[in-house]
Amino acid sequence: MKTKWASISIVGMGYVGICTAATFASRGIRTIGIDIDQARVEQIRRGKAPLHEPQLDSMLKNVVRKKLLDATSDISVAVHTDVTFLTVGTPSQPDGSIDLSYIKNATEDLGNLLREKRGYHLVVVKSTVVPGTTNGVVKRFLEQSSRKTIGSELGLCANPEFLKEGTAISDALHPDKIVIGSDDKKSASELAKLYRRFYGAQLPPVILTSPEAAELVKYASNAFLATKVSFINTIANIAEQIPGVDVGTIAEAIGLDPRIGGLFLKAGPGYGGSCLRKDLQALINYSQNKNYDPILFRATEEANEQQANRVVDMAEKLLGSLSSKRVAVLGLAFKKDTDDIREAASIRVINQLKNRGARVVAYDPMAIPNTRRHLSEQIDYADNVQSALKGADCAIIMTEWDQFRQLAAKDFQAYMNNTNIVDARRILDPKHYAHLNYVTIGMGPSIA
Ligand code: UGA
Repeated sequence: MKTKWASISIVGMGYVGICTAATFASRGIRTIGIDIDQARVEQIRRGKAPLHEPQLDSMLKNVVRKKLLDATSDISVAVHTDVTFLTVGTPSQPDGSIDLSYIKNATEDLGNLLREKRGYHLVVVKSTVVPGTTNGVVKRFLEQSSRKTIGSELGLCANPEFLKEGTAISDALHPDKIVIGSDDKKSASELAKLYRRFYGAQLPPVILTSPEAAELVKYASNAFLATKVSFINTIANIAEQIPGVDVGTIAEAIGLDPRIGGLFLKAGPGYGGSCLRKDLQALINYSQNKNYDPILFRATEEANEQQANRVVDMAEKLLGSLSSKRVAVLGLAFKKDTDDIREAASIRVINQLKNRGARVVAYDPMAIPNTRRHLSEQIDYADNVQSALKGADCAIIMTEWDQFRQLAAKDFQAYMNNTNIVDARRILDPKHYAHLNYVTIGMGPSIA
């Protein structure tokens, strides 16, 4: 690879790294992606997305063809760029705290290489890390291995991301803010300069702050979102006790108050995904280690756990007992348009169904391969909705896929043994199901 081929390097070609790399390159900024997984690197070099994300495949193809993006497993190329983003994973440890080993390794490798570099190099921590990590472990490892100090030759910033799976590319192109945390002016202004180049006249508000505050912004954001979901699920569970009340109306009404806001108020089976739970647990663990018990966030988590049990309770109530009953789980992904099942509510529901003796058959348009890897043959897998419903005593809708929205009452009647339906995503119109055993989250008994 030629010296100075790219202006930025990104270490860690996971979901955040690859979306960040593709979008930087799409704005004409030469980018090199770095990952230890050779197969992943080869795939990127061929312009193929190694994960499912709308728009990513076509964007990658385009930027690779135009030679704006390349990938390698050799981290030494990072030295020939001006800025290195760290986007490696920060998984949970068994106690909920975050595992910083990938961050430490990447920082040390980079620092060793930067020792010989002449000229300025900026290191940017984009991975989600608890407050104090950038200024603590990362700074220490970087300064020790490079034998330089943050200042004229070496820069360091915390710069969290707020991408959502399924809309990550458009989120990266149109963020609502950019948060830059740094203790030295040069680092912050170099990163702000890069973002000005990226966004031009569309530059969103830039919050310049300390690394610790930037790190906490990320956790605060995900903790708020998780709490908002547990909040509306709590209201949904109360609404279920009141004849004629639908949580959708409550959400619509409260959402019109700008202090509350209408988004993230969809009641359902509880939040999933690789971030909300992981980040909430990391924040709880971090806070407890500082001798403050964040009871609100513990309740958010507990309410989320219980929500899956409530879905299974609904099925049990319809069926009397779940023992030996065939239950069709429609949807496995933690939300629609992804094959991701990490921390998905479907998995919690399936485990409960199994515990209560049900025979589970599952269908998902995209997430069966991932579920098979996770649950292997503990459950049956169907190739389509119809075969999932065939002979089922109950159907539970767990993901809001568009194809499930289009189902009609007759589709259930045609195949099911008994037409018991639990709509955990509230996507069917109850009016059309009144003649079946249909229940949904957040809906009180109908008034006769
Ligand atoms: C989440 C955040 O929304 C992003 O801002 C953040 O950058 C990201 O985590 C991260 O830290 O990387 P994501 O995990 O892609 O993004 O998923 P969301 O769209 O936030 O959904 C999370 C879960 O909450 C899903 O299971 C979804 O079904 C559930 N949810 C969401 C509800 O049950 N109700 C709602 O109203 C909204």
